[in-house]
Amino acid sequence: MPGAGPAGAATMRAAVQHRYGPPSVLASSEVGIPLPGRGDVLVQVGAAAVHPGDYFVMTGEPYVLRLVFGLRRPRHGIPGRDLAGVVAAVGKDVTALRRGDEVFGWSTAGTLAEYACVPADNLVSVPADLSVVDAAAVPTSALTALQALRDIANVRPGQTVLVTGASGGVGSFAVQIAKVLGAEVTGVCSTRNVDLVRSLRADHVVDYTRTDFTRTEKRYDVILDNVEAQPLAAVRRALTPTGTLIPNSGRGGRWLGPLGRIVRARMLSGFTRQQLKPLLSVEKRKDLLTLADLLATRQVTPVIDRTYPLDEAADALRYVGAGHTRGKVVVTV
Ligand SMILES: NC(=O)c1ccc[n+]([C@@H]2O[C@H](COP(=O)([O-])OP(=O)(O)OC[C@H]3O[C@@H](n4cnc5c(N)ncnc54)[C@H](OP(=O)(O)O)[C@@H]3O)[C@@H](O)[C@H]2O)c1
Repeated sequence: MPGAGPAGAATMRAAVQHRYGPPSVLASSEVGIPLPGRGDVLVQVGAAAVHPGDYFVMTGEPYVLRLVFGLRRPRHGIPGRDLAGVVAAVGKDVTALRRGDEVFGWSTAGTLAEYACVPADNLVSVPADLSVVDAAAVPTSALTALQALRDIANVRPGQTVLVTGASGGVGSFAVQIAKVLGAEVTGVCSTRNVDLVRSLRADHVVDYTRTDFTRTEKRYDVILDNVEAQPLAAVRRALTPTGTLIPNSGRGGRWLGPLGRIVRARMLSGFTRQQLKPLLSVEKRKDLLTLADLLATRQVTPVIDRTYPLDEAADALRYVGAGHTRGKVVVTV
């Protein structure tokens, strides 16, 4: 887009994939700067977070994802969903944002690039004093944690909430958001992450290398299971008789991923007073505004594990795919 890029450049650097596969399918390439359509904003990307969902889409597995992202090859070619940056240009009908505004949110057309086109409704202003890296870390993971705890589990003050994968992208936000909702929070993590999870204000920390939370006497009103390392039946033992379990691991079989487990959980729900409620997070601007408030008032602070430059986006996705991140992984542009 002439005029949008630096010195009127029409091309930009991006991490591009022409086929599904491991991170080595990603190559740093020069591509055209996208044109913002009606209602869109062109964002000059400052930082873009990557998470397990981006890894699954890059590999094209589970295969069911290809129904949405392209049957034979990825439809968009540029991975990434979450971003923070500066408005470079606005399309027709956009009145709420203008060139130079600092924004964060999500795009469906790829964010591992110097520029990304984003519907204006998917963006909100970056709170003052929040870095571009911190802002980019928020959208998908924090939204998932918020919707799981507030909307699906309806967490109320005084309830006991257990979060597995408390050291990960979703879990590190979930521990903090559960505290904001007034819960007594237990985080489950490995030995090296105990101090980190404590620093997020967890009331209790279970080191899974020493203690299996499904085999203690303790029962929880809500369990947000981001790892699903134990069978459903074992995790249900740790729930109160009317407690709510949210299975939230995106992993599973090669064809259907977590869908099989989701269906099993739904079916089982009919036979027990315990609530088994799988989650598919929905991108809502209203929730992003809520998160912006929590960030501005420092009730929630992103945990950044590592940053990678755009040219090393493949390494960022490789690291995320290994499943041992501590907080969020962010690509800086
Ligand atoms: N439902 C939705 O819409 C939605 C949205 C976003 C994400 N998700 C899913 O949510 C899951 C979590 O995402 P994420 O971004 O938080 O992943 P992540 O950043 O990779 O975090 C996983 C964390 O779990 C820890 N872990 C590994 N094994 C564990 C165990 N047995 N018990 C407790 N902790 C363990 C890992 O650290 P150590 O290995 O060092 O212990 C790591 O810190 C993913 O599967 C993702 O696909 C779903």
